Amino acid sequence: MTTTPPVLAADLETGLRRLKLAAMRRLAPELLITAKTQRWTPEEFLRTLIEAEITARDASNTATRRRLAGFPVTKTLDEFDVPASSIPAATFDYLASLEWVPAGENVCLIGPPGTGKSHVLVALGMAAVQAGHKVKYFTAADLVETLYRGLADNSVGRVIATLLRNDVVLIDELGFAPLDDTGAQLLFRFIAAAYERRALGIGSHWPFEAWGRFLPEHTTAVSMLDRLLHHCHVIITDGDSYRMRQARTKGGTRLNN
Ligand SMILES: Nc1ncnc2c1ncn2[C@@H]1O[C@H](COP(=O)(O)OP(=O)(O)OP(=O)(O)O)[C@@H](O)[C@H]1O
Ligand SMILES: [Mg+2]
Repeated sequence: MTTTPPVLAADLETGLRRLKLAAMRRLAPELLITAKTQRWTPEEFLRTLIEAEITARDASNTATRRRLAGFPVTKTLDEFDVPASSIPAATFDYLASLEWVPAGENVCLIGPPGTGKSHVLVALGMAAVQAGHKVKYFTAADLVETLYRGLADNSVGRVIATLLRNDVVLIDELGFAPLDDTGAQLLFRFIAAAYERRALGIGSHWPFEAWGRFLPEHTTAVSMLDRLLHHCHVIITDGDSYRMRQARTKGGTRLNN
């Protein structure tokens, strides 16, 4: 015996299509049958349909925000082994609460390679996306390049305004490569524009007193840090590289020889 899938009346199908209620359109035929057989109240039926549409929209908006954020990898807060890192549990919990996002506060993760800076930045970004925030991840080099492109057609202001439509901008690998004068000025302009308006997440190898190594002008470095650190959670990620630890425990004996 074959059961033909239920079909929605043509006018309902057309109406739902026109209103772009895709989840309702997809689920309505089955739900109409369920509602009849289980004697749902009209209100119950309507509620189920509306909830299905809202759930589907939320999921699709989250997926879009995640794609636009440009995360280089997928990392979650759950995957982060807090006791294995130097980040105090209370600090980690505060960051995970995302209260710093609407408050426009900054998070600076400073520490040597492999100590979880990018992991935490990306995982916080992904949690923020999940919570409904707009996020953008950059390496510092990519951010400066984006701003540089704005210089070419005199649109730096517009580029910055567009970036600040995000609730959180993550700038990773700050100081991996030294910036030239113009690059440093552009970065300063961005950080000054974000100051007290948007949350920034920064990842860098360099302790603040060494930022002069990649920022050519002392005054730019000082002014940038002044704004960054005013409302900032500074997290020092210390210790051995997690990559090296994993390589060793996975039988990477070659590393020890
Ligand atoms: N405490 C941790 N728990 C789980 N995984 C971790 C932890 N710390 C680091 N890792 C993992 O180790 C790898 C290196 O970490 P990550 O990329 O965050 O380092 P980093 O501090 O950004 O280093 P770099 O300065 O070289 O960019 C990643 O795969 C990350 O997921
Ligand atoms: Mg990193």
